[in-house]
Amino acid sequence: MSNTVASFSGDTGYNLTSISKVEIPTVPKDALLIKGIAYAANPTDWKHLVYGLGPKGSRLGTDVAGVVEEVGSEVKGFEKGDIVSHFMHGNTNPDNGAFQEYLIANPATTIKYNKSGFKTEALPSGQTTPIGKIDTFEGAASVTLGLVTIGLSFSHHLKISSNKADNADKYILIWGGATATGFLAIQVAKLVYGLKVIATASKKHHECLKNIGADYLVDYNDKDAVDQIRAIGGSKINYGFDAVSNKDTFQSLYDATSETKDVRLDNLLFLSEKDINADPNRKVYIGETLAYVVTGENVNFGGHMVYSSPELIAAYTNFWTEILPPYIPQLVHSNLKVLTPGFESIDVAFSLLRENKVSGEKLVFRRE
Ligand SMILES: NC(=O)c1ccc[n+]([C@@H]2O[C@H](COP(=O)([O-])OP(=O)(O)OC[C@H]3O[C@@H](n4cnc5c(N)ncnc54)[C@H](OP(=O)(O)O)[C@@H]3O)[C@@H](O)[C@H]2O)c1
Repeated sequence: MSNTVASFSGDTGYNLTSISKVEIPTVPKDALLIKGIAYAANPTDWKHLVYGLGPKGSRLGTDVAGVVEEVGSEVKGFEKGDIVSHFMHGNTNPDNGAFQEYLIANPATTIKYNKSGFKTEALPSGQTTPIGKIDTFEGAASVTLGLVTIGLSFSHHLKISSNKADNADKYILIWGGATATGFLAIQVAKLVYGLKVIATASKKHHECLKNIGADYLVDYNDKDAVDQIRAIGGSKINYGFDAVSNKDTFQSLYDATSETKDVRLDNLLFLSEKDINADPNRKVYIGETLAYVVTGENVNFGGHMVYSSPELIAAYTNFWTEILPPYIPQLVHSNLKVLTPGFESIDVAFSLLRENKVSGEKLVFRRE
């Protein structure tokens, strides 16, 4: 038996993917062997390749869903035949990536789904499947990177109490509620943590984001968006999560929380007070979430070192294994744009993401 895999062609134009057949990997003691069935594309995938973070030949992909084929001898809590989704740091080395027929998976970034009611048949390709329960391989593939990112941010950087009673009077501001990450962050903030949620998104997404748990929506295109947010949350916006993370969005997050004393802010692209017009008299914790560090890896991200730590791993692991699992059946995936089956769809997905043609949906595809 062979393993069909997608690797970086070395061309940084629009043909990033090369497809080949290799041996099926042997499962280490502490890992799972997963047979991938559906895959999701993320902005980080193409950025790794085009910005030189992964050399030619790196196996592609971060998000996959499939079935456990084999369980390493030291792994607890999984068995052959389990339906799972998995997030990994692909796009960096020739040994492992999510866009493979068979892949090695770390249980620490794997979600197990209830088999009862899970629909194994493929979603129709060439169409958009609307928001719904995570009960298909495509839906499962679309959520794992997002949930790992939110888990690390909320548990370690924002240090949100897992006791809902502590949060009933507190607000979180989620900038970019319509991003794939923001869409999940809204649900986790509301359902899991019981926070009041203020989210920014363009108007066309407001109704949908209200339906999944946002209490207040503000159009980020409005000139007075920051004032609108202050009028809603006042001095109680203790948490801010920037799912877009450019200097403008982070400045807005910082400004919108200025009336609150005890503020923790987080972003996904290493922005700090140096990148914005910050008030020297304000003390604000600013996190820099990078999902890849949850497995203990220290990551050099284009010259910027991001460190893991025992404290970080403990907070994330508690979220992943204790806090999140009971809520998985209540979460929904975003709209899924289902591409043609086959790894040829990888370049189609990367091009759409690169050209900012993705709005309020996730790009997913199956193997052929
Ligand atoms: N550090 C990490 O671990 C980590 C993890 C995941 C993602 N990321 C990074 O986070 C970013 C988001 O990734 P993603 O996959 O969640 O994004 P995505 O779904 O591809 O984001 C697209 C959405 O961004 C929204 N948007 C664009 N500009 C905005 C603005 N100024 N204010 C509010 N919303 C805006 C658009 O909303 P409208 O349709 O409303 O215009 C659009 O729907 C990427 O840069 C990604 O690389 C980092």
